[in-house]
Amino acid sequence: MKELYKGKVKTVYQSENPDEVLIGFKDKVTCGNGKNETVIPGKGAINCEISSILFEKLHRAGIKTHYIDRPEPNVMRCKKVDIIPLEVVVRNIATGSIIRETTIQEGTRFHPELIEFYLKDDSKNDPLLTPDRMNLMGYDNVLFHGSAFQINTVLKEIFNSIDIDLVDFKLEFGLHNRSIILADEISPDGCRLWKKGSMESMDKDLYRKNTGNILEAYQEILTKLKAL
Ligand code: TMP
Repeated sequence: MKELYKGKVKTVYQSENPDEVLIGFKDKVTCGNGKNETVIPGKGAINCEISSILFEKLHRAGIKTHYIDRPEPNVMRCKKVDIIPLEVVVRNIATGSIIRETTIQEGTRFHPELIEFYLKDDSKNDPLLTPDRMNLMGYDNVLFHGSAFQINTVLKEIFNSIDIDLVDFKLEFGLHNRSIILADEISPDGCRLWKKGSMESMDKDLYRKNTGNILEAYQEILTKLKAL
């Protein structure tokens, strides 16, 4: 199979259908821009299934995504998109870079949520964008803001129903037949998830901070999502 893109934890392959790709999830976990990495057997399949369930639920809520199906435990079949070089971060509760870079207190709840846009460009260190800068680069800030808001509304409700606070997460979008659709993955690697009402992580922070077992936490999330 032709490899289209090889990332740290995912590889994208061309599918037999020219309009589709296969995204393979690896068992690797990395942090610090790839400085630390560990192989955790089974993690790829868990993240792939969590991501698939969330994409299916978003689709049912009327949100357009690249997801088609999951032909193998660690493979998602998706529409082929041109990834838009933006990282869209939604924050419901303050933690991570926002508390390092501002005077906002950890645990502050945002009403409404904060929606931030970063340029996806390692050579420029993924800078935070302003709405004006985004518009100047040809990205419709209002449109992305609206989509991120809608997606957050659905995801927050899903996680709330399994006793988890959706703290923050990162989204990526892609262009498919001239429309902008949700792409990439939604898994505990790209979200912060706290046990409801606490600050107890069930996400990649366990690995970043070396405070627990990510496989157990990710499996618990998957089991709860499957029981919905
Ligand atoms: P941050 O607090 O480091 O800015 O991250 C906010 C959320 O976005 C957190 O859930 C992790 C996720 N994220 C990624 O998945 N990839 C990234 O490159 C960045 C910057 C954030």
